[in-house]
Amino acid sequence: MNRILVWDLPVRLGHWLLAGGFVLAWLTSESEELRLVHALAGGAVVGVVLFRVVWGLVGTRHARFAGFVRGPGAAFGYLRGLLTGRAPHATGHNPAGGWAIVALLALGLLSGATGWLTYNEIGGEVFGELHEGLATAMLVLVLLHLAGVVVGSLAHRENLARAMFTGLKRGTADEAILGARPFAAIALAGWVALCAWWLAR
Ligand code: HEM
Ligand code: HEM
Repeated sequence: MNRILVWDLPVRLGHWLLAGGFVLAWLTSESEELRLVHALAGGAVVGVVLFRVVWGLVGTRHARFAGFVRGPGAAFGYLRGLLTGRAPHATGHNPAGGWAIVALLALGLLSGATGWLTYNEIGGEVFGELHEGLATAMLVLVLLHLAGVVVGSLAHRENLARAMFTGLKRGTADEAILGARPFAAIALAGWVALCAWWLAR
């Protein structure tokens, strides 16, 4: 096992934009004066999610949904393995984390969409209530996600958070991705800015 490139730049930049956008949206959610900042941050979350869905189809090996979304059996098997200390190390996302990722992306999109509807006074109070509920559900999942990162890092003796910065994880040479895809990351940055601006108009 070597340290190989696993996460391309769009995955890493997208992750930290998503995390930053989510945290900023939370911190500004109560304030009327900061509503524009809130909408910009939430709009960035939506932009990352939309890009990530496409990247999950055409991106590099470990970014593809087909590579990490596994059946419920594999996910529960992995969780059971964590309890007995025998969870197999995954070069990309583990099977349980894969489902958390799909749910986080879905909740990011739904929170953003209901926020936008409320922002534009479409549909009345219902969407406002739904927006708060979805955002809260996402917060719960983010906390579970953080717990998963800590438990996974300990179980596999690998700093998974650092890997989200460097892109490097343990794996065999043939599992490495061939390039970091910097141009796609630049496109992502532009797209996220556009979405944030458009949704906060
Ligand atoms: C605060 C909001 C956050 C959200 C919404 C979030 C969401 C996500 C998503 C969607 C992914 C999948 C990445 C991809 O394949 O594109 C992911 C992976 C990951 N996140 Fe987060 N994240 C958040 C915060 C954090 C923080 C603060 C850390 C570090 C302490 C972190 C560490 C990781 C790691 C290590 C992975 C890869 C897990 C693996 O090895 O399979 N995340 N996160
Ligand atoms: C996806 C990330 C987002 C998160 C986590 C989030 C979170 C929240 C939360 C927790 C509240 C409730 C605050 C309270 O009254 O206690 C809220 C309110 C609100 N958000 Fe978001 N939001 C997001 C995205 C957006 C977007 C993209 C927009 C608009 C474009 C938006 C517009 C609003 C508006 C207008 C309210 C006030 C609703 C009301 O008074 O009923 N949000 N948001």
